[in-house]
Amino acid sequence: MKHSIEGFSKLSKAEKVDWITKNYFNHPEEAKTLLTSYWNQNNELQKRHDEFIENTLSNFYLPLGVAPNFIINGKNYTLPMVIEESSVVAAAGNAAKYWSQRGGFTAKVLSIDKVGQIHFFYKGNKASLSSFVATHTAQWLEKVREISAKMETRGGGIKSLTLVDKTADLPHYYQLHLTFSTADAMGANFINSCLEHIAKSVEISVINNSVILNEGGIDIVLCILSNYTPNCLVHVQVSCPIEDLGKQDKMEASIFAKKLVQAVAIAKVEPYRAVTHNKGIMNGVDALVIATGNDFRAIEAGVHAFASRSGRYSSLSEASINNGQFTMELTLPLALGTVGGLTSLHPMVKWSLELLGNPNAEELMKIIAVAGLAQNFAALRSLVTSGIQKGHMKMHLLNILNQLGANEQQKVKALVYFKTNTVSVQAVRHYLENF
Ligand code: MEV
Repeated sequence: MKHSIEGFSKLSKAEKVDWITKNYFNHPEEAKTLLTSYWNQNNELQKRHDEFIENTLSNFYLPLGVAPNFIINGKNYTLPMVIEESSVVAAAGNAAKYWSQRGGFTAKVLSIDKVGQIHFFYKGNKASLSSFVATHTAQWLEKVREISAKMETRGGGIKSLTLVDKTADLPHYYQLHLTFSTADAMGANFINSCLEHIAKSVEISVINNSVILNEGGIDIVLCILSNYTPNCLVHVQVSCPIEDLGKQDKMEASIFAKKLVQAVAIAKVEPYRAVTHNKGIMNGVDALVIATGNDFRAIEAGVHAFASRSGRYSSLSEASINNGQFTMELTLPLALGTVGGLTSLHPMVKWSLELLGNPNAEELMKIIAVAGLAQNFAALRSLVTSGIQKGHMKMHLLNILNQLGANEQQKVKALVYFKTNTVSVQAVRHYLENF
């Protein structure tokens, strides 16, 4: 067995598959057959996927499901959801239908600013630095128009550039903090290109500036967009008179409303609960972020930072009762794109966007935040009434039945039997053996 190799990336795909399966697997032929059985028959399509990343050996499936009946600002949508967890799509569909009979979801984009920063160290006099930045900003911005002009025609571009003094947090640390609008693109490439271009201009300006040179010059460490986007926000909500919530699993509407508010109040103050509460929101958000070819790691990182903005990790959603009206709302930072990146390269992403009516980035922000709120409502509805396991167990049971090779007749009967019996792998195996 050989577990290290020089020049792996230079091998052909077939050679990579051979090397990996021979060196890491007890049954190389089986391991190889599995990898190749996941290749798409359409070579062109497979090549396209191969080229998304490096060292591609095969594909890794995730199911794509849909949740219909979402009404958002009066418009009907069916949401594409890519997720491995059972019950999430069903929960989204249930919440969508429930709220479609109670006025639907309302959604509003609050802001669309994105951020990029040039981080540097400077040991000299602050006033000299401030005046250096002030006198050169227009020139740096003019220079970067070489690459920002196209974005400007689409309504985007650089909105501001400011010097930020961070020396109280870290000696000699400053930054140029830029805000951007990136129209319908997520904008990572655009922002990073602008930042690197400006950083070069800054360096050239320093070389030609005796004052800053005499102060020791500036030491640029890195430039990169920030995935913290607290000024790229969308707000969504559902609301109805308490009595319209209806009886839930024998629970009166007024008690149900009160428990929902209490559940959110707990997640507001208790980080252990807040993380799980927000995880439920992200079940909906991530499923759509992935289906639409957006960067789920960026969204996750930004959302959780936002959930900690008060200094304590807290619930992203709110719930309230005012004058007999129940309201549940959610504000999320979502930096999304509907052009560029994977959006035109991945056929399933294109499909998902078409299913949504080819939304622009702002409309997609609304749709995805609604998916988050729907998921949150559905989770809390189960948690404060019947508990979460009832719904989960049905899907769990199906997974176990599939795993144990049950036929269709056994599955139908088992679903009835396990309505009143506890589900476990052992119990299902026993049931099948005695079928
Ligand atoms: C499970 O994926 C998500 C929940 O735990 C969310 C919640 O507890 O609010 C059900």
